Amino acid sequence: MDSEQGIIVCEGLVKIYKTKDLEVLALQGLDLTIKRGELTAIIGNSGSGKSTLLNMLGGLDTPSAGKLFVDGRDLFKLTGAELSDYKRSTVGFIWQNNARNLIPYLNALDNICLPTRFSGSGKMTEKERKAWAMQLLDMVDLGNKAQKRLGELSGGEQQRVALAIALSNKPKILLADEPTGSVDAANCVNIMNIFRKFNEELGITVVIVTHDRTLTKLVNRVVSIRDGKVSSEFLAREETSGAVVLSHDEFAVLDRAGRVQIPEDYLKKLKLTGNTVRLALDNDRVLLSAPESA
Ligand SMILES: Nc1ncnc2c1ncn2[C@@H]1O[C@H](COP(=O)(O)OP(=O)(O)OP(=O)(O)O)[C@@H](O)[C@H]1O
Ligand SMILES: [Mg+2]
Repeated sequence: MDSEQGIIVCEGLVKIYKTKDLEVLALQGLDLTIKRGELTAIIGNSGSGKSTLLNMLGGLDTPSAGKLFVDGRDLFKLTGAELSDYKRSTVGFIWQNNARNLIPYLNALDNICLPTRFSGSGKMTEKERKAWAMQLLDMVDLGNKAQKRLGELSGGEQQRVALAIALSNKPKILLADEPTGSVDAANCVNIMNIFRKFNEELGITVVIVTHDRTLTKLVNRVVSIRDGKVSSEFLAREETSGAVVLSHDEFAVLDRAGRVQIPEDYLKKLKLTGNTVRLALDNDRVLLSAPESA
């Protein structure tokens, strides 16, 4: 496995949830490669498989089939101890539900220091731990609230503490499931900008799941999931000056069998409702149109 190919490589991930009388296909052969240092948003309708994918990347769930390589390692071949270390040190995870991220009776600073005490690898002294936690609090603009307990912080501030906690063990990858789900619009942009800062200043690979399509303007790559598969993606275009412009070029995924999924709104616009489409090769383009068009 060539780790330079991507820090995250998903190959044909399948997840079937079996309940008493029902099987749910949450992931249907998902292929996705995320490069080291990328800032990616994953979007998709409710039930499309976003959390299922993120949980797998976080080592919290296993697939029914397929492969997943993270940082050059085959995630599902790790021993129990290796997997615990992976969850503690390679990835940082932010849940939508604050209660899962934070310990209520500790202040902000101690919440951030706590995970570093259980980290096997980064043997930091108490002083180093506190200094690192303070640096993280400054990065999330809460340097002045280090001693506050959670009850004394607003929802948006608590979520920012959660971001700092997720980074406490210096992970290479930050995974966030709807991190802006419970905060207002102004705080959403705030939080997205913190992710950008982590990405740009600390070089962390960031994957954010979101419903909110307006937030996707703030990232470099947007991957859209539909029915448990990547259906299309958008890449931010860089201007010659190097500045990232807000418009995103759209790409559809071409699978190994040559299949492409056409976004739903395109189908609607062209009134493509049947199961055939006119296909024509026009020099360096493939043209798709309604069957009755000439
Ligand atoms: N533990 C489970 N048992 C059975 N089915 C499940 C389980 N977890 C998820 N599913 C089903 O798998 C599919 C994908 O769920 P998932 O949570 O990944 O969706 P999602 O894209 O994160 O949705 P949302 O935007 O609502 O959070 C859904 O149909 C869901 O009902
Ligand atoms: Mg979800």
